[in-house]
Amino acid sequence: MSAIFIAVEGLDGSGGTTQTRLLAEWFRARGHNEVATTSEPSTGPVGRFIRTVLDPNHEASVVGDSVLPFLFAGDRRDHLDREVIPSLQRGAAVITDRYYHSSLAYQSLAIGLPAVAALNERFRPPDVTIFLDLEPEESLARILARGATLERFEALDRLRAIYEAYEAVLVHCRARGEHIVRIDARGTIEEVHKRVLAAVEATMESMA
Ligand code: TMP
Repeated sequence: MSAIFIAVEGLDGSGGTTQTRLLAEWFRARGHNEVATTSEPSTGPVGRFIRTVLDPNHEASVVGDSVLPFLFAGDRRDHLDREVIPSLQRGAAVITDRYYHSSLAYQSLAIGLPAVAALNERFRPPDVTIFLDLEPEESLARILARGATLERFEALDRLRAIYEAYEAVLVHCRARGEHIVRIDARGTIEEVHKRVLAAVEATMESMA
C-alpha cells in the first residue's frame, strides 16, 4: 500500500484528536504496512517549547503572539524532517492532528494571512485535509465539558475569530490546488468517523 499524508484540522474541541486515532485504527485494521499518528505542536524540542508557551499559566508577554508563527513554522520543519517525511518515504499512512492550516487560521489573527502563508508555503501539502467543522459555541461547550483548562486560544470570541479565519484558509488553500474536505463534526464520534472515512476512501481511490 502506498504512502498517504492526511491532516486533521478544526477548532479546539472539534474532535481532531479522537478522529485521528480512529482513522489510524482503521488503517491498521485494513493492514496498511505502517501507520503513524502524530500532531502539531510536535513532540520535538520546538514543539515542547511551544506547549509551555501555550500553557495558560505562562506569562504571555514572554513570547508574544507575533513570535508564535515563527515557532510553529520552525516546529513544522523539524516535525517534517524528523518524523513525517521519513515515515512517508517508508510507505506509511501518516495522520497529523493539526498542520499548517492551524497556523494559517490561528496565527493570521496576529500577523495576517499573507504573512503566515509566506512562512508556510514550502511545506508539503497533505494528500487530503479533513476540516472538522463545528460552530464555536459547540466547540467551547465540548472544551468545557471535558474539564480542560483554557489554553490561550479558547475563549469564545477568540474561537469565533478562528472559525472565520479557517473559512479564509480553506479558500486560500483550495486556490493553491489543495484537497480539503469539510466534514460536519456534529453528532456522535462514530457518525463523524464514518464521514471522515468516506472522504479518506474517496481520496485513496483518486490516488490509486
Ligand atoms: P491542540 O490543543 O490541538 O494540541 O493544539 C494546541 C493549540 O495550538 C491549539 O489551540 C491550536 C494551536 N495551534 C496554533 O495556534 N498554530 C499551529 O500552527 C498549531 C499546530 C496549533
